[in-house]
Amino acid sequence: MKIGRVGVLGAGLMGSGIAEVCAKMGYETVIREVSDDLAKKGVSRIKGSMGKAVEKGKLEAGPRHAARSTLSTTTRLEDLAGCDLVIEAIVENLDAKKEAFSILDRACAPHAIFCSNTSSLTITEISAATGRPDRFAGLHFFNPVPVMKLVEVVRTIATSEATEKTVFDFATSLGKHPIRAHDNSGFVVNRLLVPYLLDAVRALEEGVGTREDIDKGMELGCGHPMGPLRLLDFVGLDTTYAIAEIMFNEYREKRFAPPPLLKRMVLAGRYGKKSGRGFYEYGEGR
Ligand code: CAA
Ligand code: NAD
Repeated sequence: MKIGRVGVLGAGLMGSGIAEVCAKMGYETVIREVSDDLAKKGVSRIKGSMGKAVEKGKLEAGPRHAARSTLSTTTRLEDLAGCDLVIEAIVENLDAKKEAFSILDRACAPHAIFCSNTSSLTITEISAATGRPDRFAGLHFFNPVPVMKLVEVVRTIATSEATEKTVFDFATSLGKHPIRAHDNSGFVVNRLLVPYLLDAVRALEEGVGTREDIDKGMELGCGHPMGPLRLLDFVGLDTTYAIAEIMFNEYREKRFAPPPLLKRMVLAGRYGKKSGRGFYEYGEGR
């Protein structure tokens, strides 16, 4: 199946990155956000990221201009009706995702394929909100989307072989390296990464080291580009808390349980880089 028009639900950290890579590869891309302000914020994040890519010599000014002209935004879910593929990247909440997909299921053409970028929910439970589980798959990108090469392609027991192939080929067409993952909470990467990140918060709680020493330890000792506490700030503590709750409910294993400190930080509005404060502070002069 040929994909021409792509819909992206959500223009937060992930949705804006996904829309950026789709537009850069020439797909006509329409982003749906809940308000014009949030849509504008998403577009300005895309402009900033493309500007950085130009600065780094990864993107030329001509293709940047072309990418911008293939991008549009809307606040109406129904405006995604003409899309061949819709990629959902909204908050990590099952009810919100199901509600959006059930509306889209009625609005979109029967051939359209739906994908979720969920970090921890199963694709099966999200696709149950639609009448097209055979045309529903997981397409899990990594943050920052324009830079990270991996995409996990997830096929459920109901996903058709043709849908999996179309989604896999689509990911490849974006310049990504797809891997196949079974439809288990956290797929491959988060199954391994999330317990590590949560353990870093427990280590901080228990006084194993300072935030700087925990991060430096993993950067210099293991060659990670970012220590776990800075990576948590980067992913978003609100999103990580939702992921941990979902994975803990699924597996009932302590390693997935959200540490109390993570919960308190989310309750205090310290979501990480996106809110200006998490384990570290962000913004001018910090
Ligand atoms: N577009 C294209 N390329 C870009 C770019 C952009 N907007 N911004 C940067 N780049 C390129 C740069 O050119 C550079 O490439 P080269 O090395 O070939 O020059 C590369 O990306 C790194 O750029 P920088 O040097 O500016 O960035 P950095 O060294 O500060 O690294 C980082 C930033 C890529 C974020 C790095 O710190 C990193 O990899 N951190 C870990 C990220 C990570 O683990 N992500 C996964 C999170 S978990 C997840 O996503 C799953 C989930 O469900 C929660
Ligand atoms: P975010 O909080 O940055 O953005 C979510 C956006 O979705 C917000 O702008 C919100 O206004 C919007 N939204 C909420 N309901 C909507 C709806 N019905 N229609 C359209 N937009 C809606 O979150 P994020 O970090 O971009 O995460 C989005 C999804 O991607 C989550 O499922 C998350 O688990 C997953 N994910 C996150 C990361 C990460 O590192 N943050 C990595 C991979 C996957």
